[in-house]
Amino acid sequence: MQILHTVAELRQWSWEGRKSGNSVGLVPTMGALHAGHASLIRAARASCDQVAVSVFVNPTQFGPNEDYSVYPRTLEADCALAQVHGADVVFAPAVDELYPAGAATFVDVEGLSDRLDGASRPGHFRGVATVVAKLLIAAEPDRAFFGQKDAAQVAVLRRMVADLRLPSEVVICPIVREPDGLALSSRNVYLSAEERILALTLIRVILATEGLVAGGERRAGTLIAAAIETFATEPEICVDYVELVNWATLEPVETAVPGSLFAVAAWVGATRLIDNTILG
Ligand code: PAJ
Repeated sequence: MQILHTVAELRQWSWEGRKSGNSVGLVPTMGALHAGHASLIRAARASCDQVAVSVFVNPTQFGPNEDYSVYPRTLEADCALAQVHGADVVFAPAVDELYPAGAATFVDVEGLSDRLDGASRPGHFRGVATVVAKLLIAAEPDRAFFGQKDAAQVAVLRRMVADLRLPSEVVICPIVREPDGLALSSRNVYLSAEERILALTLIRVILATEGLVAGGERRAGTLIAAAIETFATEPEICVDYVELVNWATLEPVETAVPGSLFAVAAWVGATRLIDNTILG
């Protein structure tokens, strides 16, 4: 498996493939790959003739007090995992390859970028949209693969791809979980043994909400209050948000309908975790 470091190399790889009739898949990641990323790579492998995985810890999506400097960087292991699951190339650029000196161009998806995670992480989605736009413009994939795990990110990126008329299909893959239900995340490595147990509160909240909805409860106020009550049983957890929204606009809804997004974010110690469910 090849490792590409420059945009020119990625563009050439994609162009040559498409010229010979291949479909191209792209899986954007920040590395520290786990089974959640692997599921995206396998989905890409299953529907595309050639597959690139990008590994880039994107500085512009981290706030000044966030974990950019300590975010796990494990390129060698990432390349091995990407290869096992069917990637043809890993694109691992240096920061100045995607942000040349003096870079001043950003992609701002207005409105959506200020909701859910964007509300507590100002500038985060501007950084995400900017780097994903750069990757999509460079790789011109037929399909780009993202996880439902980051549901607000999905909404922002779908809007961006539609607005910029980018010629890539956005494919969303289901959340991959540990056997006990914790959603896989590169940040789970930050959790102590005790925090790892507390972190299960998020899936408890998600399952309880799904149970209420299955039992006929549709009122946002009731679903959110029940979730906050469950979080309150673990005072060490600090809730960031509990929201019921329209998945396309991220605007709050009063009543759950099929396809509504119920999403939570909470601090477990110094680690911020997210989880969600698309209601049936
Ligand atoms: P990262 O957190 O590395 O995630 C890369 C992709 O893997 C995202 O689409 C994310 O939703 C998906 N993913 C993460 N955990 C998952 C899980 N448990 N199950 C299924 N999919 C999962 O998201 C980013 O990187 C960045 O913001 C990025 C889009 C690469 C832009 O920098």
